[in-house]
This record gives sequence, C-alpha cells and structure tokens, in this order.
Amino acid sequence: MIEMRAPGKLYIAGEYAVVETGRPAVLVAVDRFITVRVGPAVGEGHIRSDQFANLPLVWHRRDGDLVIDYEETPYSFVLAAIRTVEELGRAVRVPLSLFDLDITSELDDASGRKFGLGSSAAVTVATVRALAAFYGLPLTEMELFKLALIASDEVQRSGSGGDIAASMFGGWIAYTSFDRGWLREQRFDVPIRDLISMDWPGLSVRPLTPPWELGLLVGWTGTPASTSRLVGDVQARKGLQGTHYTEFLSRSEHCVEGLVGAFSAGDTAGILTRITENRRLLNQLSEHTGIVIETPQLTRLVEAAVRAGAAAKSSGAGGGDCGIVLCDRGSTDLEEIELAWAAEGIRPLDLHAQPSREVPGER
Ligand code: PMV
Ligand code: MG
Repeated sequence: MIEMRAPGKLYIAGEYAVVETGRPAVLVAVDRFITVRVGPAVGEGHIRSDQFANLPLVWHRRDGDLVIDYEETPYSFVLAAIRTVEELGRAVRVPLSLFDLDITSELDDASGRKFGLGSSAAVTVATVRALAAFYGLPLTEMELFKLALIASDEVQRSGSGGDIAASMFGGWIAYTSFDRGWLREQRFDVPIRDLISMDWPGLSVRPLTPPWELGLLVGWTGTPASTSRLVGDVQARKGLQGTHYTEFLSRSEHCVEGLVGAFSAGDTAGILTRITENRRLLNQLSEHTGIVIETPQLTRLVEAAVRAGAAAKSSGAGGGDCGIVLCDRGSTDLEEIELAWAAEGIRPLDLHAQPSREVPGER
C-alpha cells in the first residue's frame, strides 16, 4: 500500500495576473492535506473519496452557453492524474495493473464545505505522487510537478498552476506561470517522457523564506466561490477594457517582484506594504471588469485587520472563500482581529504554513 499526501495552499499575491504566461505570484502551502492511498486490486479497481461521494457536477451559463465548473468535479482531476502517470508508465514499459485508490481530505470541513484551499490541486499532486510510487517510476520533483501540471491542464483549462506548485513543493513560493498554448502544442508531438524533462517557457518556482516575525492569519468568509468561473469571467472581459488589463498585469508583476524582494531582504514592513498595494490593484481590476473579487464580507475581514495594524486582502480568486492577513507578530494583536471577525461571522482557520520539502536540483 502506497500512501502520499499533499498540502492545500493559499494565494498571497499576484492573483489573476499569474494566469498570463510568465507573470508572478506568491503562494504558501498550508498544514492541511489530502491523502491518497493506492494498493493493488483484483477483478476491479475502485476510486473512493471521503469528500466527493455525493458531489454533483456544478454548471452555470455564460453569455447563454453552458459552462461546467470543472474544479467542482474532483474525480476528473484524479482520473486525469491517473491517465497522465499511466501514459508515462506505458512509454517506459512499466506493466500497468489494477489498483484501489482512496482519498481522504482535510481541506474541506467534515460537512463537505469548501474553504478554497486548493483541493483539486492537492488531489492531483497526491495522486501523481502515489501512482508514480505505485509503479516505481524514478522521477524528480520537477518531473512529478510537470506531470501534475499536464494532468490538471487536461481538466481545467484556465488556472495558472500556482496551486499545483504550492502543493508540490510546500512552504512559501514565488511562482511564474507556464505558457498553456505552448504546452498544448507540445502535447501533439512531443512524447510525455521528453516533455517532462524539457524547460517550459515562463515556468519557474522559487522557495521564499519568510522573516521570523511575519505572522499569517486566515479568515473564512463562509461563502464558497468558484475559481474557474471567476477566472473565466475576467478572461471573457479583459479585452473590453482598453489598456486597463495590460496595465494591471504590469503593475501586478511590479508589486509581486517588490514582495519577493521584501522576502529576500527580510523586510516585514515592505511585505505588508506590497500586500496592501496588491489589494488595491485587485480592487481596480474589479472596477474595470465588473467582477466582484473582494465581497463585502472580505472587505470587513480586511478592515478589521487594518485597524489592528496588519495588512490583508482576499486570497485567490476571491468572491468569497478566504482572506489572508499578514502582520508583524511582535506588534499585532491577533485576538483583536479575531474578536472583530467573530462579530461579523468570519471564522479564523487554524492553519499554518507547511514547511517546504527538500527539493534536490532544479526548482
Ligand atoms: O481561488 P483560488 O485560491 O483557487 O486562486 C485562484 C487564483 C487565480 O490567480 C485567480 C487563478 C489561478 O489559477 O492562478
Ligand atoms: Mg478561491
């Protein structure tokens, strides 16, 4: 029996811009996990999950068309991960076999409520890791990462892959996104074995070391949000806004680079300034596209943190889910923030940054 786990994640900065090739974001992996167990099966194989047993397929309409929220159907990520690892297994002539695959998740709460911690990415990473181990494939962390990106691209055609990176490598990371168009072209004629050992245009992952006094607090708004829907809506409207969108992209990049620089310099005040700046940029994107990123509940979450001297913003696509607070632990009263949140029905999540894995060689 093989058992592998992968952590959930939170976006810290760079959201929406990071969807475009080469644009940066900062993320952190959190100490809640999805665990995948794989063992040999006889007669028929089973795929089971404690969370997804009764999960319906969710869809909506955009401009009259039926659009499926792929992230709401986590088995599609599991199946894509299995197919991708088996494509490689076939290429290297490893005999494929029957297995049972069991998934348990700490990323959603017991009643199945989604916190937005990246369960699709974590289940993809954990499945790729577990199956690669089950078949005894000797792969580097970077190759496993690329398999997980290929698998998730087969399902969800809009995300940046930052969530996969955080789940794969753990810790705090700076991520820049690969060129999806390029990957899809390569998939036609480059064997998967070669594809995962190539350099991918735009793609980079770098570990960040937070200053010791940097505190992270996470609040849950109580409202789940669909990332694929929000990203799809912004993508559908980005062309209508003249130069606003390209200005947003370069400002976001500048802001995230400043944030990464502040991490390198151990400059906590600089980190907080960049978080506030990124919040402002996302609010401007909202104004220009009409897509609500910071909901009224997220505004209340942020304002309570700002009153206590911290910096805060929505995390990820927004529209609900979680907000993040970064602060100087020495000078911020976290209880004051939590008290203010309680009055607004905002739930602090008991999460911490997950230490990064030892990553040999290229990152
Ligand atoms: O809502 P989340 O935590 O899944 O984050 C989405 C972040 C975006 O930049 C909006 C999309 C992406 O895939 O990078
Ligand atoms: Mg979200």
